[in-house]
Amino acid sequence: MTENAGTPAETADGTTDGISVDALRRRAFDALTTARERTALLTSCVDEPELTAQHSPLMSPLVWDLAHIGNQEEQWLLRTVGGREAVRPEIDSVYDAFEHPRALRPTLPLLAPREARAYASDIRGRVLDILDSSPLRGGPLLDAGFAFGMIAQHEQQHDETMLITHQLRRGPAALTAPEPPAAEPVDAADLPAEILIPAGQFTMGTSAEPWALDNERPAHHRLVPAFHLDTVPVTNGDYLRFIEDGGYTDERWWAPAGWDQIREHDIAAPLFWRREAGQWTRRRFGTVEPVPADEPVLHVSWYEADAYARWAGRRLPTEEEWEKAARHDPVSGRSRRYPWGDEDPTPERANLGQRHLRPAPAGSYPRGASPLGVRQLIGDVWEWTSSDFLPYPGFVAFPYREYSEVFFGGAHKVLRGGSFAVGDVASRGTFRNWDLPVRRQIFAGFRTARSAGDA
Ligand code: AVJ
Ligand code: FE
Repeated sequence: MTENAGTPAETADGTTDGISVDALRRRAFDALTTARERTALLTSCVDEPELTAQHSPLMSPLVWDLAHIGNQEEQWLLRTVGGREAVRPEIDSVYDAFEHPRALRPTLPLLAPREARAYASDIRGRVLDILDSSPLRGGPLLDAGFAFGMIAQHEQQHDETMLITHQLRRGPAALTAPEPPAAEPVDAADLPAEILIPAGQFTMGTSAEPWALDNERPAHHRLVPAFHLDTVPVTNGDYLRFIEDGGYTDERWWAPAGWDQIREHDIAAPLFWRREAGQWTRRRFGTVEPVPADEPVLHVSWYEADAYARWAGRRLPTEEEWEKAARHDPVSGRSRRYPWGDEDPTPERANLGQRHLRPAPAGSYPRGASPLGVRQLIGDVWEWTSSDFLPYPGFVAFPYREYSEVFFGGAHKVLRGGSFAVGDVASRGTFRNWDLPVRRQIFAGFRTARSAGDA
């Protein structure tokens, strides 16, 4: 699936080279099943009032996400792909994200938790029957099981959204997970601080990745000047030096809108941090703990990331710089699916899928490094880039304008790489996430860059 713009890797029938229909069917089944296990956990580890409550005006009640997941699956897989009759058409509007802003969703006539669970599971049962007999070719929704992959990614994205809701929720811990592996065999201090990515053209985006969403397409060439990129994401320890150097009170470092935001809301540290008796602590899924110095910083806005980079005499990478660092293989000259190659993520390569409920220490996952040695590009924390969310040349909205197209423009910044909270079918070298530059509750951090030739 390695690709080069101009020499598409698809076979004539539109399925992925070398992957059988049975394997695609299994891949779709596994992705849907993995997502549903997580959804079930996230919506069963707290009691009913917690599922229907609104824990933050920025988020939906968890029970809205649950039925919305089922409703999207009904609309795309049962009705559109399967051609089956609608099961519950009367609830479409309640679960249409564009009709109701998150803050107002608690006031809607929502399915109760028990009903929402039964609905999602009823739809899933019917969808698995459709998957069993579906041809997985015969048009862009069916080819290589695209619609099934799209809906699995949708559910995984909502699993991340629901985990954000859990993080915002007050009260004792409801979720547990094993600690991520410690950085080995070397820690960040033994790695070079930054890595030179030489100038040259590379292939950005994809026309071959079967489940790539519309905004990742098509593959096209970009000429990227030489630049240096941080080997690992900026850590809490790094970020503390910015705080202690008065970073939040020095207007020089801040974009004007960011300066206004931190003053209006009294922001002086990442979200969920507090200073208690001279020590920085953070609240993480209901537990208060000392801020770990070696972990990638989380819960900073784009404005905070941008200010830190300026303070450090650096800048955020552009989206194309990030993708070149993550995908370009300097030996073959081709763009790969992931930093380590074309193989799917494994627990040895990246911290994904809520396997751990925090990022791994900076310098972890040597097996996930890029050919030039950049670490942790996939998983751990979403990484803010300097880029606005814009369509690639040749973009075509598919299968609906509201997935990407309505968000294009200057309002949203692009995030790359995926966090510990997103499932592995919704993270890859081409995957694009976006959010408003003021957002802090998402699992976002960053790394910095500088143009080669700049001191
Ligand atoms: C791509 C994460 C910005 O959560 O708003 C979920 C994904 N789109 N349902 C979002 C999405 C429709 C989207 N993000
Ligand atoms: Fe959605």
